[in-house]
Amino acid sequence: MKLLSWALLALAPALIDATELGYSTTAPSTVNGSLSFGSHYAVLNLDLIDALVGSINTTTKGQAFINSTAKWINAVHKQSPPPISIFSRIYFSTSLMPEVSLSSPFYQAVAEVGNLTESDELSQLYPAFKPLSDYDVVLQKTRYYAGTDNTLVQILRNQKIDTVVLSGVRTSGVILATALQLFDLDFNVYVIANNTIETGTDATSINNVILQSILPKMPLNVITVEQAIDALSRSNATYY
Ligand SMILES: *[C@@H]1O[C@H](CO)[C@@H](O)[C@H](O)[C@H]1NC(C)=O
Ligand SMILES: *[C@@H]1O[C@H](CO)[C@@H](O)[C@H](O)[C@H]1NC(C)=O
Ligand SMILES: *[C@@H]1O[C@H](CO)[C@@H](O)[C@H](O)[C@H]1NC(C)=O
Ligand SMILES: *[C@@H]1O[C@H](CO)[C@@H](O)[C@H](O)[C@H]1NC(C)=O
Ligand SMILES: *[C@@H]1O[C@H](CO)[C@@H](O)[C@H](O)[C@H]1NC(C)=O
Ligand SMILES: *[C@@H]1O[C@H](CO)[C@@H](O)[C@H](O)[C@H]1NC(C)=O
Repeated sequence: MKLLSWALLALAPALIDATELGYSTTAPSTVNGSLSFGSHYAVLNLDLIDALVGSINTTTKGQAFINSTAKWINAVHKQSPPPISIFSRIYFSTSLMPEVSLSSPFYQAVAEVGNLTESDELSQLYPAFKPLSDYDVVLQKTRYYAGTDNTLVQILRNQKIDTVVLSGVRTSGVILATALQLFDLDFNVYVIANNTIETGTDATSINNVILQSILPKMPLNVITVEQAIDALSRSNATYY
């Protein structure tokens, strides 16, 4: 019975529905004036994998998202020393996805992405985004929140991180879930509006509501990529 259900429900890894994309270059920043991330900040680059980014790279919005996010990641890597950047990738231990039971509501959420494993091409980071060896960390994730059952918070605590700066795909998935969870854990959270994108039905309105209403209401910081890059020169990275 279980095998039959798997056969009916499990999708082979596939590109996602990108018929509509929500991407904003008009989201107002919640922060005025010059910005600093302080001296204990981490850069979180979430779910920038081939299955997701490779689905949007032929569209103008998708390319603007990729260009902006790559520009930010490259600027971060040029800092001396660079702050810690933590990338997340979605994949499961085996193609049977033992981390997600068929009865878990999350199963439906992940069905579109498919049963990716560590070695699948579609679970690799999209080539425009390259972790810096010796500094950056890549974590597996199997839920929306980037820190579910991995070492994300352990790393943030041990590096005495108090501030996180988020980029990634999708706005209503990993970005929203991670922003709210880390906010509750007392981190200063910044979301870079130019470096988030939403896919699928109603993507534009969903993206706008999250960036312009829900996150500011928490209140969480929504900033532009220009502010983020500018803030690097006023911020320090410290390793412990
Ligand atoms: C998982 O993916 C593979 C292809 O990588 C596919 O053959 C298989 O049917 C999928 N589903 C399950 C439950 O393994
Ligand atoms: C980023 O978004 C801001 C508004 O939120 C906009 O003014 C700026 O032009 C955008 N930057 C890029 C590179 O698109
Ligand atoms: C930023 O400045 C504008 C214009 O002065 C003002 O309307 C807005 O309330 C300010 N926002 C914050 C978060 O201080
Ligand atoms: C960064 O380090 C410099 C030199 O140690 C210090 O003057 C400055 O206050 C620090 N900035 C922050 C945001 O901690
Ligand atoms: C889009 O991404 C896919 C997967 O990485 C790649 O094969 C393809 O060449 C990319 N297309 C463009 C236009 O960059
Ligand atoms: C993204 O960058 C590529 C390569 O530099 C460029 O060809 C393309 O026009 C850019 N697209 C957007 C929408 O910014």
